Amino acid sequence: MNLAVIGMGRVGLVAAAALADFGHHVEGVEIAPERVAALERDQMPFYEPGLQELVHKNQQAGRLTFTSELARAVRHATAIFIAVGTEERATGEPNLAPLFAVSEQIVRCTHDYKVLLIKSTVPVGTAARLRAHLAGVAPGEFDIVSNPEFLREGSAIENFLRPDRVILGGNSEKALALAREVYRPLYLLETPIMVVDHESAELIKYATNAFLAMKITFINEMATLCEATGADVHAIARAVGLDKRIGPKFLHPGPGFGGSCLPKDTRTLAEMARQHGCSLPLVESVPVSNSTICPQLISKLEEKMGTLRGKTVCVLGLAYKTETDDVRESPALEFVRLALGAGARIRAHDPLANDEAAKALAGKKNDVSFHASPFTAAEGADAVAVLTEWNEFRSLDLAELRAQMRGNLLLDARNLYDPNDARRQGFEYLGRGRGTARSSSLVASAQG
Ligand code: UDX
Repeated sequence: MNLAVIGMGRVGLVAAAALADFGHHVEGVEIAPERVAALERDQMPFYEPGLQELVHKNQQAGRLTFTSELARAVRHATAIFIAVGTEERATGEPNLAPLFAVSEQIVRCTHDYKVLLIKSTVPVGTAARLRAHLAGVAPGEFDIVSNPEFLREGSAIENFLRPDRVILGGNSEKALALAREVYRPLYLLETPIMVVDHESAELIKYATNAFLAMKITFINEMATLCEATGADVHAIARAVGLDKRIGPKFLHPGPGFGGSCLPKDTRTLAEMARQHGCSLPLVESVPVSNSTICPQLISKLEEKMGTLRGKTVCVLGLAYKTETDDVRESPALEFVRLALGAGARIRAHDPLANDEAAKALAGKKNDVSFHASPFTAAEGADAVAVLTEWNEFRSLDLAELRAQMRGNLLLDARNLYDPNDARRQGFEYLGRGRGTARSSSLVASAQG
């Protein structure tokens, strides 16, 4: 099939490369010509494992091309995926202007039947509003299918090629049949393809992300309670997760969830409900609870150090999670801002996100420095705080790290280290709800 994907961001580019890998002919449309030129040279606009290889392979095979000419790509395509950003406006509502503008352009330049598949995350009712809006714009014959994505940064390719499910929302049999055809390679893997109405498809995306955010928040609250009671949050998470009704995933405590989706989608879901006259107290409490974690981490340090004023804190990890250079709503940056506010100086290192973090913290240049290695970042530090679960941090030489420091405090916000091992290397260890080290090792040996 001939397909077009509009918007070569984190969703659109992955979708374009993966759809080409299914065997379709895909044209990726990107408004910025310099990004198109870079993509043609296999230079990715962001880091995503495996993406460069997939783009290269499919460009070489002649199935994937890039252009900034929307009209040309649309003319050739039967189905057009729209993957433009819907980043929040200052009011907190998603900004749907790019989606509407692009859709208008599409229908204005088409003369034969097209299917528009909405990949962008949009509030309930958007497809219906868009349909009504476009009907007044141009006579072109088209249908809309809501097709939300569930890609996780760091494993986006795998998620697209082997999804848990595909959601197709709409009411046109013709368009839904065509959309099914696009995803036909997934039938071989027996991927569930759910066909629902537009409103359900739109809500499924928010419900999924809000549920994940709630699950993480729940275990983070348990970690706080474990700290007060001496229980071990990993024993709790494992036992709770073994209950098949609950499942083991997304029960890892940390500094709070971040990124471009979970925080935004949880807020939007609560706001959407308010606009429909409903209150969702559970969903509303999730961001509130999540925002208490970084202040708790700072208080822990202050308890041990007296004050952060004049102290140097080494921050390891700035990305909101591993395998990405994305720092949007990263708890690590929130931690840095709070530590700076409390008077600390920051020496930071992230394997990929130093540059993105430097941009986000540009106003704080005097008190934050970025380093190419964790050991350089730790030089002269009074405390080290590990905020992102990079694999290379798991295997850090703790003795070497300690040797670089002035102090001996290790705040392990992701519970990457064995507390006893860290203590043996001379650290005073602070984790998230680790209880006594004895119960941690018992869980480990029971698992082993
Ligand atoms: C999420 C959804 O998982 C994905 O389906 C959706 O399409 C986009 O939003 P992503 O933002 O890439 O994906 O990250 P994810 O891996 O879900 O993690 C989100 C945040 O939760 C990160 O800050 C992560 O560190 C945190 N997290 C995740 C935890 O603190 N504990 C966990 O157990 C899991």
